[in-house]
Amino acid sequence: MPITTCVFDAYGTLFDVTAAARQVAQEVEFPHLLDNWQQLANHWRLKQLQYTWLRAITDAHTDFWLVTQDALDWALDATGLAGDPKLRKRLLDLYWQLQAYPEVPSMLRTLKSAGLTTAILSNGSPAMLDGAVQSAGVGGDLDAVLSVENVGVFKPATRVYDMIGTRFGCTAREVLFVSSNGWDAAGAAGYGFTTAWVNRANEPVDRLPWRPDHILSDLSSIPDLVS
Ligand code: LAC
Repeated sequence: MPITTCVFDAYGTLFDVTAAARQVAQEVEFPHLLDNWQQLANHWRLKQLQYTWLRAITDAHTDFWLVTQDALDWALDATGLAGDPKLRKRLLDLYWQLQAYPEVPSMLRTLKSAGLTTAILSNGSPAMLDGAVQSAGVGGDLDAVLSVENVGVFKPATRVYDMIGTRFGCTAREVLFVSSNGWDAAGAAGYGFTTAWVNRANEPVDRLPWRPDHILSDLSSIPDLVS
């Protein structure tokens, strides 16, 4: 069955979540971040994801912006940087304007020119996603930006993946779901989507019951995959 609809995870897939800490590390005001920005970024991201999973399975949903702040507070604490409110504010501000990976604009443009439907399906709150899409300038090539806030639970709950069929009236196999998160690609594969895992860091595949259909090193080959 041909792919009609390409759906992208946002954070880590289209938008570089390490960009905030990397950028702040280069600012003269925060020289103490130079040596440990990667550790901070890794802690921040991992805690953010863990908190989404825990909130989903304990039925304790809150929006992704609060989860992102809680995770940053843990990460700052763990790296000995908790006492700097200016640093905290700067990192959070940058989260609203994360850089897109360089191949994103042309990849989306090519998909739209080929007549495909394109969308984001993300844990992000509508306001956060709007900020990221605007700052990357890719809104014109997306048919929809869908937030889990519509269903009040985080991925990989099936209610989140259901939003695609509800919105576009397509079957699961007509959807190519693209994520850099191995667990999200696995969840989407279990749901029945055709899936591509973007494995920029060359990590091992997740040991879960579902494997992605495609493993890519970046997003540039997506148009070829669906043509
Ligand atoms: C998202 C997170 C999981 O955008 O990256 O949904």
